[in-house]
Amino acid sequence: MSFLTDKKILLGITGSIAAYKVADWLRALRREGAKVTVVMTESACRFINPLTMAALSGNPVHTGMFAAEAPETIPHINLAREHDLLLIAPASAQTIARLAHGLADNLLATVALASAGPIIVCPAMNSVMFQHPATQANLATIKSYGYLVLDPDNGKMACDEEGPGRLTDWENARQAILSVFAPQDLAGEHILITAGPTREALDPARFLSNPSTGKMGYALAATAKQRGAMVTLISGPTALTVPPGIKCIQVTSATEMHTQVMTCLETATIIVKAAAVADYRPAEPQLHKTKKGPASLALPLIANPDILKELGERRGESSDFPLLIGFAAESHDHLKEGARKLKEKNLDLIVINDLGGTDTGFATDTNRVTLLSRNGTQEDLPLLSKEETAHRIWEAVGRLRVGH
Ligand code: PMT
Repeated sequence: MSFLTDKKILLGITGSIAAYKVADWLRALRREGAKVTVVMTESACRFINPLTMAALSGNPVHTGMFAAEAPETIPHINLAREHDLLLIAPASAQTIARLAHGLADNLLATVALASAGPIIVCPAMNSVMFQHPATQANLATIKSYGYLVLDPDNGKMACDEEGPGRLTDWENARQAILSVFAPQDLAGEHILITAGPTREALDPARFLSNPSTGKMGYALAATAKQRGAMVTLISGPTALTVPPGIKCIQVTSATEMHTQVMTCLETATIIVKAAAVADYRPAEPQLHKTKKGPASLALPLIANPDILKELGERRGESSDFPLLIGFAAESHDHLKEGARKLKEKNLDLIVINDLGGTDTGFATDTNRVTLLSRNGTQEDLPLLSKEETAHRIWEAVGRLRVGH
């Protein structure tokens, strides 16, 4: 279940060419279970037809201050009361100026003024308009009111100019919306997360690695941020985009990951090792590409540092060391192997993947894991998306924090 399930979202659309993009946002919100009502300014109706938004939302679209069909109702007050979040996207320079100055000369601006709940504003406009001191001052003003402003992206715009002004992408908006509804139980934590595979070079053209895509680790990073944590992600090579608001340090090999983890350790309060770290590396990586030669080739390997084990040893009996959470990816005896690693690496919690299924473990969008804690608790989670699995891991961390 998503934090968006049954949440009432009022989507305010204003006069910007990017208005067509939020039709897809609306569909994505509904897919996650949100109930969406749309308010459009007069200019927005010139860019996209209210009928489209009515069909996609399954609700009438509000465009005027006075409802001709029900004159006894006061639309702006009812709309302001009846939603959990006001999302204004795209927000034009004109609407941002209205919000900054508390004008109530159209339905959307009036609803914003009458709203007591959270407001997210996603500017989209020509880059010169966006960078104009007037717009920047208005943005600073609405931020001071507590509105969350999602900066536009840089790039080529419909007017052929290049610069900041493109509507932020859906994934960025989604993370901000989820943060509004997620419990803020990780606020004050600095969480160090490792993700993805490591690559151990044989020569300039080849390496040893594994099928980790980083999906599990990146889901942990995004959800920790949603729940209020400061997150540092140490990532092996992946094809994923770093979730917004997260500091990411890119590494390639296990040795580099080891160095970065030990460097970032000092300020961390929780460490989660979701990365699939190569246990061995070629003893002598070749400077030049190895040429095809004999029918068989022996490859001497040497052990990489076991980063998690070293953290567990450093921690010893200390009670003020960061909470240590490890992962285990096992193809057989997964519970027994997981329990062994929990003890040997001196962890608080281990997340055990059974690599037996096609929908769990490496490179899938879903996972089925068992959580074993130092306190002897065992939780078998059902098949869930990696994002939901990550939330369940944070809930388990919350229980560890209070000693359960
Ligand atoms: O990235 P995805 O495609 O989404 O796949 C997710 C995943 C399967 C990679 C992930 O959920 C997972 O299980 N990661 C750990 C895989 C693994 O390497 O397990 P392990 O049993 O070999 O290692 C146990 C723990 O020690 C892990 O936390 C690992 O990060 C850590 N370790 C291992 C070796 C090493 N040299 N240093 C370490 O720190």
